[in-house]
Amino acid sequence: MASAPAFKVLLDRTRILTRIGELAERIGARAVEHDLLLVCVIEGARTFCRELRQRLPFAVECHEIRASSYGNGTVSSGSVHVEGGEFPVEGKTVLIVEDIVDTGRTVQKLGEFFRARGAADVQVASLLSKPSRRVVEVAIEHLGFEIDDHFVIGFGMDVAGRYRELPEIVLYDEAVERAAGEKAAQA
Ligand code: PRP
Repeated sequence: MASAPAFKVLLDRTRILTRIGELAERIGARAVEHDLLLVCVIEGARTFCRELRQRLPFAVECHEIRASSYGNGTVSSGSVHVEGGEFPVEGKTVLIVEDIVDTGRTVQKLGEFFRARGAADVQVASLLSKPSRRVVEVAIEHLGFEIDDHFVIGFGMDVAGRYRELPEIVLYDEAVERAAGEKAAQA
């Protein structure tokens, strides 16, 4: 079987899981247990959300939601379409769980979405943030790591559906991927 391309590691698994533990502890300490509701923004946030939820000091309700940006080709139109989200949030503290906040549009849209449906409070937990890419100001109450404008994959994040299963966060590099493919073809 071909081995995974040797992408450069940005954040190793130990560092990621340690940080998630810290976030869970902080969230747990501040939350009113029965009011908290996790909303996992799929697909990318699934891994983070699973690890975060496991480390919370109490069991918490969790739902999934999908948010997609529409655009032509690689240029985002800036409008975010929400799918799912039919579960009740009235009076709840909704914690939006994201893998990454980039322009901020997804989190902004989801914040509006849940406030309009009667959430008492909406907060954000994001594993990563790229502040240099921000288009709209958004608050991230629980942030894992701030990173530069790298194309990151792994730990749930993908490029065209690939590499979500990688255990750590690595830098996507097309040349590294191509070299691994060529090596596998020669073997
Ligand atoms: C990513 C990420 C966020 C969004 C952030 O999702 O999971 O939901 O982009 O970008 P923004 O701050 O510019 O709105 P993506 O569209 O890659 O989908 P995926 O999670 O299904 O891979």
